[in-house]
Amino acid sequence: MAEHTDAVIEIRDVSKLFGPVAAVDGVSFGIIRGEFFSLLGPSGCGKTTLLRMLAGFEQPSRGEILIDSQPMAGVPANKRPTNMVFQSYAIFPHLNVEENVGYGLRNRKLGKDETRSRVVAALDLVKLSGYGKRGAHQLSGGQRQRVALARALVCRPKVLLLDEPLGALDKKLREEMQLELRQLQRNVGITFVFVTHDQEEALTLSDRIAVMSSGKVLQIARSDDLYENPNCREVAEFIGNMNLFEGKVAAVAQGNVTIATAAGTFTVPHVAPIGAGNAVHLAIRPEKLALSADKPAPGLNAVKGRVIAQTYLGDRRQFLTQIDGMAKPLAISRQISGAESPISTDSDVWVTWPPQLGRLLTS
Ligand SMILES: Nc1ncnc2c1ncn2[C@@H]1O[C@H](COP(=O)(O)OP(=O)(O)O)[C@@H](O)[C@H]1O
Ligand SMILES: [Mg+2]
Repeated sequence: MAEHTDAVIEIRDVSKLFGPVAAVDGVSFGIIRGEFFSLLGPSGCGKTTLLRMLAGFEQPSRGEILIDSQPMAGVPANKRPTNMVFQSYAIFPHLNVEENVGYGLRNRKLGKDETRSRVVAALDLVKLSGYGKRGAHQLSGGQRQRVALARALVCRPKVLLLDEPLGALDKKLREEMQLELRQLQRNVGITFVFVTHDQEEALTLSDRIAVMSSGKVLQIARSDDLYENPNCREVAEFIGNMNLFEGKVAAVAQGNVTIATAAGTFTVPHVAPIGAGNAVHLAIRPEKLALSADKPAPGLNAVKGRVIAQTYLGDRRQFLTQIDGMAKPLAISRQISGAESPISTDSDVWVTWPPQLGRLLTS
């Protein structure tokens, strides 16, 4: 196994069984010091269980977790260099903001002045300077979550574990808090491990994302790489919108794979080792497809269809185009610049894309 000298967390073949259910199933990866790392996946895929094992609230059934090169087996939660922030605002209702934030420091033998200056600095970090004397009940949801963050940060953990911390906030506030959280993480330089089921949130915030499904990690990559180069259908469909053509490899030549599908024959860049006859999918994002009434230029993948619906989305227009031989219509997203020629619903169109924009998925 390659040594990651800058890995602050190493997860080695970790599983967690609850009776017969593997909530986490043979997961291995490292988290780099100082990065904003997200665990992303649908509800029930094992994100919280994995996070709780990092925190020390659960023990792995199998495998090993190292933090700062130290094996964590037998190390209780309060002796780990981690702190956790939960979705629900886990702050004490009977304490004011300052007391809440200082709570985590009470067992450390810090002087009064040191405690005070740390609390002030933590409140400043989360933009709550001046709120120290407020009661918990006098705070909005966003402010309470800031208090929870400050309370975790005041202990100066090496790793902050966040379990859907913005999940209870409404959309507008959540987006504001996302920006703040990212800024905060950059400022403090602490490694964040962030759990979310919201792919947009993960794409916005993260340096890297682990996409999880049924207790397993499907892919770990940077946001842009995950979007541009998903390694399987499940990731392709979970991150953003994706059109998929099911087909068989017809030929492999000169860095290109030709795929025969029910909608026609298309070419796609060659990546994974693959042979003729293999069942595959060609994946293409809606914004990489072009629509035109005119016959396409040679060299493009092209398929004929009929526009069955279109939706105005302010900055872009989304078209659904029915293709002969395909069960699902293709989604095509077009930026609205004002210069494009209108396309009416029910009209016949060509859908085209340069071969290099498609992706070959073998699983
Ligand atoms: N304490 C537990 N006892 C039994 N099953 C659990 C327990 N905690 C989680 N699970 C199960 O493990 C799976 C993963 O749960 P969880 O880690 O909470 O997923 P996520 O956070 O991704 O929604 C689910 O099937 C869940 O029901
Ligand atoms: Mg969860």
